[in-house]
Amino acid sequence: MGIFRSGANEQRPVAGAAAVAGELPSIRLRDVEEADAEFLAELQSSVADDEWDGYDDAPEDMLSGGSYGGGSAVVELNDRTPVGSVSWIQVPHGPNRSSLAWCIGITVSPLFRGQRIGAAAQRLLYETLFRTSQANRVEAETDVDNIAERRSLELAGFTLEGIARRANWRRGVWHDMAVYSRLRTDAP
Ligand SMILES: CC(C)(COP(=O)(O)OP(=O)(O)OC[C@H]1O[C@@H](n2cnc3c(N)ncnc32)[C@H](O)[C@@H]1OP(=O)(O)O)[C@@H](O)C(=O)NCCC(=O)NCCS
Repeated sequence: MGIFRSGANEQRPVAGAAAVAGELPSIRLRDVEEADAEFLAELQSSVADDEWDGYDDAPEDMLSGGSYGGGSAVVELNDRTPVGSVSWIQVPHGPNRSSLAWCIGITVSPLFRGQRIGAAAQRLLYETLFRTSQANRVEAETDVDNIAERRSLELAGFTLEGIARRANWRRGVWHDMAVYSRLRTDAP
């Protein structure tokens, strides 16, 4: 992907219609390098017990992004400090190539949360995916109660579409997921 720079009612957006996408921090996305192994392992362990993003499945039951035509990137500050990671996988909405959309995910290091880095990174990621692929749609799902991620998606310019009922199996319970999308034609 190279380097790119950026400048509860369940049925309603958590931020309301007035969520403003401006005022996001300046971050970059870059390819994962060998030297990132330690940072990414720490990042992964930081969400091992996360209420919204921690899974207790056996390793063989976890799906790798690589199996879905996706990828991942490191989120870093302009001084190259790594602060998180993003990933994306292809999801089909029909039996043809044109109906493939991207579904994205993110983790921000606990040390760097509270600065809207998640929104900035997810905005830069969909801009990059639209520029580098033919996809018409980038989507993201998160637990209906994951307010930080829902607010981040809304700040990044995603639209809430609805709730995927009991779609996510996590820690022995089925969870409702809030479904968000960003279309190629959505207003900047
Ligand atoms: C989700 C995540 C990426 C957001 O990280 P972040 O960019 O640091 O998010 P912030 O803390 O800046 O919060 C973003 C917005 O949500 C708001 N917010 C966060 N928690 C909130 C809460 N409990 N109630 C209300 N608003 C909340 C913040 O105030 C902020 O809005 P504002 O800047 O307008 O005030 C990060 O929390 C994370 O990595 N979580 C673990 C992994 C995860 O859940 N990933 C998504 C899985 S689908």
